[in-house]
Amino acid sequence: MFDTMTLTKVTGAVCGSLLVYMFISWAGESIYHGGAESHGGEEVAQAYAIPVDDAAPTDAAAADEGPAWDVVYAAADPAAGEKVFKKCGACHKVDGSNGTGPHLNGVVGRPRGSVADFAYSDGMASIHDPWTPELLEVFLLNPKADVAGTKMGFAGLPNIKDRADVIAYLATTK
Ligand code: HEC
Repeated sequence: MFDTMTLTKVTGAVCGSLLVYMFISWAGESIYHGGAESHGGEEVAQAYAIPVDDAAPTDAAAADEGPAWDVVYAAADPAAGEKVFKKCGACHKVDGSNGTGPHLNGVVGRPRGSVADFAYSDGMASIHDPWTPELLEVFLLNPKADVAGTKMGFAGLPNIKDRADVIAYLATTK
């Protein structure tokens, strides 16, 4: 009798506690979610409005950009550029003869697509501005993006110093 009563009380207490616990956690969850839904927009907006969040990517992007092109080009090293030019040498020569690509001696200042005995792509042949270091820089970063349909099968020089050095080297060729 005593044992049965104790067991009944304990069982009742456990079930009651469980019910109360379940109700509290259900209520808590609905309040929590309700609260999050009604204020969520504002809270998210605030999270993104924290200046640190906005400033971090801007600083990172600025750091990635590094020094400006003219600064890098002013410090370019033609001797290092001659080494970078090995990547171009399979297709380009600087002795006035053409290979897979047109000869590049004197290319800085030369109008684009102007080597008479070279069969340029339509994209290259249709632009006639003289190659400035700046235009060469853009072309060498990503040839296919710069000149639509270019025949130059070269992915580009991702490193700004390589571009500056190789252009400085080409500028020394006549
Ligand atoms: C796989 C061969 C190949 C490689 C490697 C290559 N080029 Fe070219 N390049 C070409 C071809 C082909 C053209 C002509 C593009 C056209 O007509 O669209 C060209 C065109 C050019 C032009 C334009 C010349 C003009 O007369 O207007 C420049 C400048 C140039 N390349 C520079 C370079 C440099 C610098 C490198 C090395 C970093 C390089 N190329 C690597 C094949 C190559």
